[in-house]
Amino acid sequence: MKSIAHDLEQLGIQYIVSVRAIPFLYDIRSHHLPTYEHSLRVAEHAKFLGDKELGLDSALLATGAVLHDVGKICVPASILDAPDVTFGEFALIKKHVIVGYDLLEDTLPFSACIAGKHHPKYPVVDYPAALSFEDRGKVDVYVQIVTLCDFFDALMSRNTKSFARINKQDPFEVKRVLRDNFKNSELMLELLVDNKLNSYEQMH
Ligand SMILES: [Fe+2]
Ligand SMILES: [Fe+2]
Repeated sequence: MKSIAHDLEQLGIQYIVSVRAIPFLYDIRSHHLPTYEHSLRVAEHAKFLGDKELGLDSALLATGAVLHDVGKICVPASILDAPDVTFGEFALIKKHVIVGYDLLEDTLPFSACIAGKHHPKYPVVDYPAALSFEDRGKVDVYVQIVTLCDFFDALMSRNTKSFARINKQDPFEVKRVLRDNFKNSELMLELLVDNKLNSYEQMH
């Protein structure tokens, strides 16, 4: 197995992801490799979009993106891999949002916000005490980017029932699905599909 530093280097984000993220990345990788790989792809996409947007802090974005699902270490791998889950298991999966927030709250408060807000339908979390007022004002745009990249990667890499009928090789269809879910992200979703769809070719 390659080192985490090597994996981050492959994505060109080894110098912008906080060193404080590394122990969490070890935990994610040893708990569930597919979640680790998903986290890396989301970070790569987020960096790509962040680089197109002026004025964003790429370190905050990449660190938050790569740790957005850290709370999944509270969910047994057997549930994460299950093709179908019970209501009780789904309730546990939903908890990854709040668990991620709690894990990161003290050491990486900006990333904690992203972890806590990346599923807009799940319970809303407050701002960590350690997060400055200036950062509170800017976190939403970072959450928007990570949420879009997260959804796009799930759509492209998972074969869940809700995504089964979608032709993932058709950029128009993928954009339509993204548009249905992200009404105010037209430019970002165009950029994402036009530039990143090919990276999933081997998965189809
Ligand atoms: Fe998630
Ligand atoms: Fe995710």
